[in-house]
Amino acid sequence: MRIDRYLSEMGAGTRSELKKMIRKGQVSVDGETVKDPGYSVEPGQKVLCAGVPVEYETEVYYLMNKPAGVITATEDRHQKTVLDLIGERTRKDLFPVGRLDRDTTGLLLITNDGEMGHRLLSPKKHVDKRYRALVSGEVNAEDVRKFAEGLRVDEELTALPAELEILEIRAEGEEKRSVVEVVIREGKFHQIKRMFGAVGKEVLELKRLTMGPLRLDPDLGEGQWRRLTEKELKELREITGMG
Ligand code: URA
Repeated sequence: MRIDRYLSEMGAGTRSELKKMIRKGQVSVDGETVKDPGYSVEPGQKVLCAGVPVEYETEVYYLMNKPAGVITATEDRHQKTVLDLIGERTRKDLFPVGRLDRDTTGLLLITNDGEMGHRLLSPKKHVDKRYRALVSGEVNAEDVRKFAEGLRVDEELTALPAELEILEIRAEGEEKRSVVEVVIREGKFHQIKRMFGAVGKEVLELKRLTMGPLRLDPDLGEGQWRRLTEKELKELREITGMG
């Protein structure tokens, strides 16, 4: 990899700032000053930039509290994406693991670890995802039973058994609304909205609380993110068989 790219991906500066620093002789690789921004460097070599060691991280993991109004995509010409929210982002290989709808909020994992992403989304792994939802109408014991049995949503989708818990029934004027939590083990397109649609209800708000061992961090406001902790990463590696 080019030395200017290596340094910019590690957040040492913009490509143009770094090119200038390299030409001025402020960067060394394994003790030798490097003056060509196209110089090829490998992770593992000892890189100093303005005297500061810069190690290359091969894999990075971010936990985000996705806000409503941004799309879960890597880039889009018209709409803001979750990756636009990672201001620190300098690497081009990040992607969100799974999709939340534009109006869905909550936990989203963003990484460049393709194998981890693939395993977490694999239908064979059945990673649990817990959502909190505000739903129109009064969710009842019959709905709970249907979700638990594996709901036939439409021709394309018969959902795997899902856990549905009723937390609160609110009266809003003449209308009833239900606050519920749902745990699903798959992630089909608009799955939760379609499941409630199949029992005659509409999802008004949806927030993801967990994915496998990851929990939405209450310290993260909507739109904020942080790196995964070592403990979270270890737990993710365990459930994906990458431990
Ligand atoms: N189910 C949905 O309907 N939407 C989401 O964003 C996630 C799960």
